[in-house]
Amino acid sequence: MDRKFEILEERILIQKINSTFVLNTEKTTYAFRVMETGQLEHLYYGAKIRSMEGHETAGILVERHAFQPGTNVILDPDHDTFTMNDICQELSGSGRGDTGEAAIELIFPDGCQTIDWIYDKFEIQDGRHDLEGKTLPGAHVLEEKQRLEENEKKTVAGVQTLNIYLKAKNENLTALLQYFVWEDSNVITRKLYLKNTGEQPVEIRKAMSGQLDFADHDFRLSSFHGAWTREMEKADMLLTSGGYRGGSRTGNSSADTNPFFMLARPSATEDTGLVYGMNLIYSGSHEEAISVNIFGKTRVLWGIQREGFTYRLDGGRIFEAPEAVMTVSKNGYNGMSHNMHKFVRDHVLTGKWAKKERPVLLNSWEAAYFKISESKLLNLAKAASEVGVELFVMDDGWFGERNDDKHSLGDWDVNKKKLPHGIKGLADKVKKLGMSFGLWVEPEMVNVESKLYMEHPEWVLQHIAEDHAEGRNQRVLDLVNPEVQKWLIETMSKVFSSGDISYVKWDMNRNMSDIYSPYLKKEGRPQGETVLRYMQGLYACMAELTKRFPDILFEGCASGGNRFDLGILSYFPQIWGSDDTDAICRAEIQNGYSYGYPLSCVSAHVSSAPNHQTLRVTPLETRFDVAAFGSFGYELNLADASKDEKEKIKSQIETYKKYRSVFFQGDFYRGRSYQGNLSNGYELRGNLMEWTVISEDQRTAVCLILQKEQVPNMQQLRLYPKGLLENQKYHFTNIPQRVNLKMFGDLVNTVAPVHVKQDSMTHNLLAKFVKPDGETEDLYAYGDSMMENGIPLSPAYSGTGFNEKTRVFGDFTSRLYFIQATN
Ligand code: DGJ
Repeated sequence: MDRKFEILEERILIQKINSTFVLNTEKTTYAFRVMETGQLEHLYYGAKIRSMEGHETAGILVERHAFQPGTNVILDPDHDTFTMNDICQELSGSGRGDTGEAAIELIFPDGCQTIDWIYDKFEIQDGRHDLEGKTLPGAHVLEEKQRLEENEKKTVAGVQTLNIYLKAKNENLTALLQYFVWEDSNVITRKLYLKNTGEQPVEIRKAMSGQLDFADHDFRLSSFHGAWTREMEKADMLLTSGGYRGGSRTGNSSADTNPFFMLARPSATEDTGLVYGMNLIYSGSHEEAISVNIFGKTRVLWGIQREGFTYRLDGGRIFEAPEAVMTVSKNGYNGMSHNMHKFVRDHVLTGKWAKKERPVLLNSWEAAYFKISESKLLNLAKAASEVGVELFVMDDGWFGERNDDKHSLGDWDVNKKKLPHGIKGLADKVKKLGMSFGLWVEPEMVNVESKLYMEHPEWVLQHIAEDHAEGRNQRVLDLVNPEVQKWLIETMSKVFSSGDISYVKWDMNRNMSDIYSPYLKKEGRPQGETVLRYMQGLYACMAELTKRFPDILFEGCASGGNRFDLGILSYFPQIWGSDDTDAICRAEIQNGYSYGYPLSCVSAHVSSAPNHQTLRVTPLETRFDVAAFGSFGYELNLADASKDEKEKIKSQIETYKKYRSVFFQGDFYRGRSYQGNLSNGYELRGNLMEWTVISEDQRTAVCLILQKEQVPNMQQLRLYPKGLLENQKYHFTNIPQRVNLKMFGDLVNTVAPVHVKQDSMTHNLLAKFVKPDGETEDLYAYGDSMMENGIPLSPAYSGTGFNEKTRVFGDFTSRLYFIQATN
C-alpha cells in the first residue's frame, strides 16, 4: 500500500464515504449511513475494520431488503422493502414502523407523538466541540441554550467531533447528534441536543443519550446492582426475545444499579472475545433498556430515567441530554476495561489530582464515629503520623450539635466544645505532626433540626413538609434554586478556608423522595425537570468550588457507592467505594468497579477486626492487600492498636509507598474471581480473587491472590499474572512471611515441650515471641512462562505438618506478590 495513503488513513478519525460516516479510533470502528429515505442506519460497531476512499464500505455493511416483510409497516410506497423494524438505527423514531423502543418520546403542540428523524447536514471538526465550548466531557447538562449552531472552537488533541443535524419530519424540531471520537482510549462519546424551532412548547417525555442497535442478539448482558454496603454485584444474563430494563429511580445514580454496563459475546472471557462497555456522564436517576425485537435485532438505549421525567422545551430553546460513553474491545473484559480506564483517567478526571498520586490517609469515622474531640483526634493523628500516614481526615461530627445523625446538617459552624481551637487549631496541630489535614462535609443536605431549616424551609425538595418520607433524618436541599447554590458555594468556601485544608470528603446520604422543587413551582416549570436540574445545580456548585480550591483533593461519597459515576468523577477524582470495609466483601465490590473505573477512582481503607459491617475477622494482611488496590488509607482506631499491629501497619505503608505509582497508574487485570466463571478445579471454583496491576512500561507488577475458604489437602496453587512482556526475564518475590502460632490452636502441643492450654496466657506469650518463618518466594522466569504456565506457589498447609516452606493460607487469607523485570 502507498505509504502516504497509509499515514493519512491513520490520522483520519472521521470520514464520510459517499453516504456513510466512518468513525475510527486506534482499535475500533463505528459506522452509520444516511438511507435513501433520509433516516440514519447504524451499520457497525466493533474491532477496527478497513475503510478506503473509493471502496463501497457500505456494500459489506448494509443489510439488503428484497420484499415487504409480512405484516410490517413499510416506510413509504417508493421504498416498499424498508421496514424500520428490520433496520438498525442511529436515532430511532416512533410511529413509523419501528415497533421497538424509541430513543425519544415527546408530544408536539398538536398532540402528535410520531417522530421520523431525517438527516439534514454534517460537520467534522478537529478537537472536541460542544455548545458550551467546553473541552472536556464533563457532565455538563446545560441549561437550554439558543446556540445550536454557534460552536465555539476549542480543541482537545486526539479527538475529533462529528456533528449530525437531523430534522423531525413535518415538525418544528431539530436534533443534533454529536460524536466525539477519542482515538487513544478507543472510546466514542455521544451527546444529543433537541431544539424547538417552532413557537409552541414541546413536551419531552424521554430522551436517551445513547443508542446502539445490533443486527443479532447473541450477547451476554452484565449489569451491576446492589445496595448500601453491597455495591457493584455483577449480574449476567443472556439476551433472548423481550428485554431488560435497569436503572435507578432514587434521584441519584445509586448503588441499586450503576450506570455502567456491558454486553459481550457469550464466549468472551476476561481476556478474549468481543466486549462492549457503556456508561453515562450523569449522576441522577438513569435508565438502561436492552431489547430484542421480532427480527432478533438488539437495541440498547441508555440515558436519563424516563419515569418521573418531563421537560418542557419552549419555542426556540435547546435541550441537552447527558453524554453517553461507549467502547469495545476484542480482547475480552480486561481489554474493554483498559479502554474505559484510559478514557476516565485521561479525559474525565480533571484538575491537579487527576494525575497526582494520592496520599495515604487515616479517616476518623470507624475509629470514633460522632464521638470526636480535639484531644481524641490528636491522639489518633499522633499514632497515624508514627506509622507513615500522610493525610489525617476528620469525618462527620465536628459542627453544630452533630452528636448523631439527627442534627445540624446545614449549620456548618464548628462545635467549640469538641474543637475548642476550631478547624484551624486542629489542622495546624496535625500539620505539625507532619501530615496534611482534611475534613468531611455533606453540603447538599439539611436536618429538620437545624437553624438552616428553621430559616429556609422553602429551600428543600419537598411537597408537603409535614408529610415527607424521611431518610437518615435529613432532607435534600433544592439545588435547582440558584439562591441555594449560592448559599452552598459561599458556606463551603468559608469551611474550606477555615484552616489549612488539603482534602474534602463530600458526602450525600439519602435518596430523593417526594420529589418536588419549590423553586420550579415558583418559576412555573414542570416538576418532571427537578432531578435533571438538581444535577445541573450540583455540577455548578462542584465546578465553582473545585475552581476556587484547586489544590484540595476532593473525594465523592454517598453512603459509600450510592453515587459512583462519571458525573461525579468529572469533578472529584476519587469516590469512597462502599461503607463495607470488610476485605472479603470489598474484594468483590472493587472487582466490580474495576470493570468500568480505574483503581485510582475507588478509595479503599483498612479497618478494624471484627469488621463493623459484617463482624467478620480477617487478617490485617488481607485487609491491606485488598485496600492497596485503590486510593489507599486506614479507618480504625490506631491509637488503640497494639505495638505489633502498629509495626505491621508501618511496614504495610512502606510497601504501599514503594509500589504506589504502579497501583495508581498501572494497567489492572482481573484474573479468577469469586464468580468463578474462569475457574478450573475444586480449589478455584469461586473461592479466589486474583488481580494483577502492572506499570505502564511492564517492568513492575503487583499481584493479589485472596482465598475465601481454606481447602483441605490441596497444596498446589498457581498464580497467573497478566500483562507481562513475554520475552522479558522477571524476578518473582513475596513479602517474607511470619507465621502466627495462634492460628494452629492446640496443635501447638505437638511441638511444645510443655503442655500449652489454648488461649491461655502462655499461649498468647508464646505467640507474641515465637513467630516462625513462613514461605519465601524467590524465582526467575520469562514473562511468557509466568503467564502461560502460571507460577506454582509454595505448598499450602494441608493438615499433615508445617515447615518454613509451608504457605499457611487459612480462611480469608491473601498474599501480595511482586514481579520485577531483571534488566
Ligand atoms: C456515610 C459515609 O459513607 C461514611 O463513610 C461516613 O462519612 C458517614 N456517612 C458519616 O456520617
